[in-house]
Amino acid sequence: MSYANSRIPTSAQACIHDGLAARLERHLSAPFRKPVAECNRIAFEQSLGGWNGVAPLILDAGCGVGHSTIQLARAYPDHWVIGIDQSADRLARRKPYPESLIPANLVFVRADLVDYWRLLESAGLRLARHYLLYPNPWPKIGHLGRRWHGHPVFPTLPRLGGVFECRTNWRVYVEELAFSLSRLLGQPVPWEVYLADSPLTPFERKYRDSGQTLYRLAIPIDSGDTRPPHHLPDPPHDFLHR
Ligand SMILES: C[S@@+](CC[C@H](N)C(=O)[O-])C[C@H]1O[C@@H](n2cnc3c(N)ncnc32)[C@H](O)[C@@H]1O
Repeated sequence: MSYANSRIPTSAQACIHDGLAARLERHLSAPFRKPVAECNRIAFEQSLGGWNGVAPLILDAGCGVGHSTIQLARAYPDHWVIGIDQSADRLARRKPYPESLIPANLVFVRADLVDYWRLLESAGLRLARHYLLYPNPWPKIGHLGRRWHGHPVFPTLPRLGGVFECRTNWRVYVEELAFSLSRLLGQPVPWEVYLADSPLTPFERKYRDSGQTLYRLAIPIDSGDTRPPHHLPDPPHDFLHR
């Protein structure tokens, strides 16, 4: 696929999945007991190895090549920023930054979020900020269970607190996520069309440059951090161009 020619997810599903509410109820009523893999436990320990135990935590969940993680670490130098992705290949591709220019307050770790989120919760840790930027949409109707809000791990996410932010190029995804979070938090959860003036991730830049509408859901879940979610510096010139 050529650059700036990416497509909006196509789906036979045009609105919130009619099985989502029942699925959420099921996930709320039955604890998710899948055992945590040892490799993810080790990755979890690694992700906190350089943390001083005091700095507020930011999680960039599904960080891909990590450009957003780097920008977040630059924007919040007093936070410990953790970029997690399951793809070692993507994590290794964090161009254009040489290792020496990677901020010291971040760590990249390869792990499965399904385990990592639960490990954070079991350790009693809370996040100041929690980013879920352009998660895989899984737009087929039968793939609801692969979308994060349709997965049994989902109830763990709001329990981690922080300013939670998701961005997507699929309207149904943000509608479903808002519906699901609203059910868990017991309050309305707004979302908005988002103009990405300074794209935070390669996917965001690609979708924006393809003329797509982007959607953003950002909601504070008792983080105690009062800065607005968009206190980000402009990226360096030609940042994110690949
Ligand atoms: C569409 S990409 C978006 C990457 C990046 N946030 C961006 O916007 O450029 C989704 C990312 O989520 C990661 N991912 C999907 N499922 C995951 C899981 N269970 N654990 C960790 N990472 C996962 C994928 O490897 C991929 O890098």
